[in-house]
Parts: sequence; C-alpha cells; structure tokens
Amino acid sequence: MSSAARPEHPSRQRMTLPRLAAMKDAGEPIVMVTAYDYPSALAVEEAGVDVVLVGDSAAMTVLGHDSTVPVGIEEMLMLAAAVRRGLRTPLLVGDMPFGSYERSNEQAVENAQRFVKEAGCDAVKLERGGSSVDRARAIVRAGIPVMGHVGLTPQTATALGGYRAQGRTANRAIEIAEEAVALQSVGCFAIVFEAVPAAVTEALVARLEAPVIGIGAGAGTDGQVLVFHDLLGIHQGHTARFVKRYAAIHDAMVEGVRAYAADVRRRSFPGPEHIYGVEPAELAEFRSYLENESLAGRSWDWSATEI
Ligand code: KIV
Repeated sequence: MSSAARPEHPSRQRMTLPRLAAMKDAGEPIVMVTAYDYPSALAVEEAGVDVVLVGDSAAMTVLGHDSTVPVGIEEMLMLAAAVRRGLRTPLLVGDMPFGSYERSNEQAVENAQRFVKEAGCDAVKLERGGSSVDRARAIVRAGIPVMGHVGLTPQTATALGGYRAQGRTANRAIEIAEEAVALQSVGCFAIVFEAVPAAVTEALVARLEAPVIGIGAGAGTDGQVLVFHDLLGIHQGHTARFVKRYAAIHDAMVEGVRAYAADVRRRSFPGPEHIYGVEPAELAEFRSYLENESLAGRSWDWSATEI
C-alpha cells in the first residue's frame, strides 16, 4: 500500500473565516463538500474546494445506517482526524452528531473542543434553531467557530414529518428565517439551508450577513454543499432531487473488482510485472536444501504448547 503524505498546494491559500465573508461580499460562490476519510480528503483538496464538512451523513454513506442519528462522537472524531490528515487548504468543519450537544452548553463546548483538539477541525456545525442557538453561542464564546444548519435538519427529521422540504408555508418559512437570524446573531459564521424552496432562500440570503450555503435550497445562496458519495455516485439507490451526479464511482468500483476476480480465476493475475525475482544462485541453494531436507512432519505440535 502506498504511504500517506500530506498534499502540498503552495499556490492556494488556506481558507479563513474573513476570506469566506469576503467571498459573500464579492458574490463569489463558496464550494463546500463532505469528506469522511483520508482518500476523500485528498480528492477534495486536489479539486480545490473552499470548505470541507465531515458530515454526520457519514452514518449513512460510510457506516451503512439508515439515518444520521446513530453515529456517535467517537466515530465522528475518528473520521474527522482522518480527513484532517489529507487536507491543507479548505476550512475543515466537524459535524456535531445527535446527542453530542443538546443536553447543556457545557456538553456542547466540551464536545466542540474535542473536534478541534483531537481531530484538528477549524470549526463545528450543529443543527436547528431553538436550544441550539444557546449551544452555538456558548461554543462561539469558547473560541470555536460555529456553522448553523436550518430547514431540513436530518437529526430531527422525525419531528419535521420526515425527509421533506421545509419552508413551504409562510409560517414555516418565518420559523426558518427566525432561526437563521438567531444563529447569525450569536456569531455563526455561515448557515446551511437544507431543502428550502429557492424563492424562500433567495428572499432571506439578501437579509443575512452570514454566508448561506445551500443544499436543495436553489441557486440564490452564497454557496453550495453536496455529499461526496451523492455527487460521485459512490452509493446506489435513491437520492434527493437536489443531488446532481458528476460521476459513477460505484459502477467503476464494481467493474474494477469484477475484472480482478476474473483475472484471478483465469490465473492471468499476477503477471510477470507483478512478481519479485530471486538470484539464481540463491534459488539453487534453496532448492538443494529442499531436496536434502524433508520438511514433512515439521508442522507445529500444538500439544506441546502451553497456553
Ligand atoms: O451531514 C451532512 O452531510 C450535512 C450536509 C448535508 C450539510 O449536514
């Protein structure tokens, strides 16, 4: 296996919060994507994105759960640390999983600090308005930048009536507006809008100072985020209508493994270019040893082993 090396991109500057704010002011679209491990981090680094989220969507994309709820803080920290090792320039945001921040401001600050200290994240993200506004304030006051997330918040999707667009009634749109304003007022440096009608988002973006990063929120946002596995077609099955597929990596992986299996079965792998040689004299000596020495009966005598 090849050894790990941190990528160097001297021409690109590290993303900072002032640079993100400047991008909003300049109308320059912010590109955000999720990543969950070292190879995906290398890919998004090389592609030159601005912000990388180690999303709790890892519960589904990487760990095979059917919602984001089951993933725990230890799992998220392990994934975030792996992403950190592959990333240099984008801002790295760790997604606080369900159950890791709701109980109290103390719990929220403690776990946010773990994302920074143990995984090397630059910032954390949490979901919802309501009590999350208080948690966001506490984390910001502890010196850790926070990204908000409103609209469809998958950690509490059941309470929202399932995975469905939010803000399609005036009342719900007002709730989303109030949540976004509250998160901004406690210092969130950006806010994700998920599955919100484009017209509702557009009306709000102009009134918010914090950059709005949309996923299923139309083209009027300050930036877009997609899940790595969705945009690259790494998994099969249903995807939300807001996903655009840019590759079919799952199909390429199956094809690759199938071709390897076929090669092994017809003994055409390994080929001469994949094998190691040995000096003829060394081989001759080894062969003569085999001829003179019987290796039969040399198997391990387990009865003589003390356990
Ligand atoms: O967990 C995640 O991937 C997210 C994005 C969809 C914003 O929260």
